[in-house]
Amino acid sequence: MAFTLSAEHEKIVDELIARYPTKQAACIPVLHLCQRQVGWVSPEVIDYVATRLGMAASEVMGVVTFYTMYAQHPPGKHTVWVCRTLSCELMGAKTIQEHLEHRLGCHAGQTSADGNFTLKKAECLAACGYGPMVQIDDQFYENLTVEKLDALLDRIARGETPTQEETAWYPNAAAATTSGS
Ligand code: FES
Repeated sequence: MAFTLSAEHEKIVDELIARYPTKQAACIPVLHLCQRQVGWVSPEVIDYVATRLGMAASEVMGVVTFYTMYAQHPPGKHTVWVCRTLSCELMGAKTIQEHLEHRLGCHAGQTSADGNFTLKKAECLAACGYGPMVQIDDQFYENLTVEKLDALLDRIARGETPTQEETAWYPNAAAATTSGS
């Protein structure tokens, strides 16, 4: 069945296209918009974007396979991105990753059997001062320990959406305030 965007999202596509010198240049944000509507970039989404932007399906596919933020398979209800770049790695990202694999019963790129969480590895998410950190859906959670992560996942599995403010721990910020003046 052909993919269609909602009328509201179609309007946004028109606005996105108008921002760039060529329609093709809007490919990345249009793919994000489609993924936001259906959760992943299906073959039907690729066909839609190719037709809408005057591209070959293979060109759109090239963009989708290059960037890790596009889901090429239907994800679980929530996606957990674990930063595995140097700063987070030095602060314990490997422990966080292994704990998630154990708790969710799946490896990076897979979804837990209950369909609740898809686990993914990420390159630096630009919160290097607060590692180890994860991004769950659109939200960062920083300065994690295994215990904090478990509490977080328990809440999310219950249908809650903890804010970053509720769950952020900034020991370095407190130290900087004390010593910086
Ligand atoms: S290294 Fe993890 S956020 Fe930058």
